[in-house]
Amino acid sequence: MRKISLYIAASLDGYIAKSDGDIKWLVDFPNPEKDDFGYNHFIKEVETTLMGGVTFRQIADFEEWPYPDKENFVFTRQRGEESALVTFITSDVVDFVKELRKKKGGLIWLIGGGSINTIFMQNDLVDEIILTVVPIVLGDGIPLFAKGDLNKTMKLQKTEAFSNGMVQLTYSKQ
Ligand SMILES: NC(=O)c1ccc[n+]([C@@H]2O[C@H](COP(=O)([O-])OP(=O)(O)OC[C@H]3O[C@@H](n4cnc5c(N)ncnc54)[C@H](OP(=O)(O)O)[C@@H]3O)[C@@H](O)[C@H]2O)c1
Repeated sequence: MRKISLYIAASLDGYIAKSDGDIKWLVDFPNPEKDDFGYNHFIKEVETTLMGGVTFRQIADFEEWPYPDKENFVFTRQRGEESALVTFITSDVVDFVKELRKKKGGLIWLIGGGSINTIFMQNDLVDEIILTVVPIVLGDGIPLFAKGDLNKTMKLQKTEAFSNGMVQLTYSKQ
């Protein structure tokens, strides 16, 4: 079975973006030692990315599509969407992912955002969480997981602290 890893960053109070989707607080957070927070190692292993429509539209606004060598799937309720960069999935998220992970292939990166993360957690589809905690309190925003009764316990595998105050927590499914 292919592994699904949620590699993501959140504020100290658990937000992945401000309410308007702004992630400047994350992108511009001081990083004098130019740490990559394990990203280059992680991305080499990734064969497939999964994300929600909101996250996709934000990434697609970047200057260049960052994952051209990956297989990219976007969950959306909007029918008829087409893109050369990604494949849109309008069928049931859980059924799609269960089938995908049965096929041969490498690491699957669940990019986010909060709504899609929640569906995956609810259905025990997250094998690993690599969470980089950014030492900033936003007070409001888009949560790492949307509200709801999840109650899922994870097992701590690794912690790593960076000189800029960020801490990376790696958890695996129990
Ligand atoms: N800090 C980080 O590392 C990080 C990482 C990833 C994302 N983010 C942030 O997260 C924010 C977006 O999070 P979000 O929770 O608002 O949105 P999201 O999870 O990225 O996307 C939600 C969208 O997914 C689609 N969707 C949701 N449930 C579905 C279902 N059951 N079936 C089919 N499609 C479904 C819909 O797309 P349509 O609207 O197309 O119908 C929905 O609007 C962005 O601001 C992004 O910057 C941050």
